[in-house]
Amino acid sequence: MPGALLVVYHSRAGHTASLARTVLEGARASAPTLALEEADCFDAGPADVLRASGVILGTPARFGYMSGAMKDFLERIYYECLERTVGLPWALFVKGDTDTSGAAASVERIVTGLRWRRVLPVLEVAGEIGEEQVASAYELGGAMAAGIEAGLF
Ligand SMILES: Cc1cc2nc3c(=O)[nH]c(=O)nc-3n(C[C@H](O)[C@H](O)[C@H](O)COP(=O)(O)O)c2cc1C
Repeated sequence: MPGALLVVYHSRAGHTASLARTVLEGARASAPTLALEEADCFDAGPADVLRASGVILGTPARFGYMSGAMKDFLERIYYECLERTVGLPWALFVKGDTDTSGAAASVERIVTGLRWRRVLPVLEVAGEIGEEQVASAYELGGAMAAGIEAGLF
C-alpha cells in the first residue's frame, strides 16, 4: 500500500491555490483509494515528506524565483530529508503572469540536491488560467496519483 501523495503549495492571491485544487481533483479522480494530503508550504514539514510516496510542489513566481514560502519549506525539510528521500517521485507546477522559468528552475535546482526523481514535465502557467491550463493541472494530478497507486513511480 503506497503512502500518501502530498501536494504542497503556496498562494497569496489564489491562483496557485486554484491550480492546486484542480491537481487534487485530478488525483482523486484517477486514484480514488490513494491517500491525498495537501498543505500550505508554511504548514508542511519533513514528517509530511517522509511519509509520502510522492510530492507535487506548487509555487507562484516571485521576482523570477519561487515564492518565499516554498523556499522556507525547502529549507526546513532539506537536511532532514536528504539521504532519506532519494528517488522520491515529484512533480511541479508554477503560476506566474509573464515568466515562470526562473521560478521553475529555482525549485528544480534545490530538489536536484535532494535527488528526488521528477516523473512528469513541469507545468508552467504564465497568465490566465483557461480551459487548457485547467486540463493540464487535472492531468498532472491524475498522472501522478495513478503512477504512485500502480507502483509505476
Ligand atoms: C512580488 C511579486 C513578484 C512577482 N514576480 C513574478 C515573476 O517573476 N514572474 C511572473 O511571471 N509573475 C510574477 N508575479 C505575478 C504572480 O506570480 C502571479 O500573479 C501569480 O498568479 C500569483 O499567484 P497567487 O495568486 O497564487 O498568489 C509576481 C507577483 C508579485 C506580487
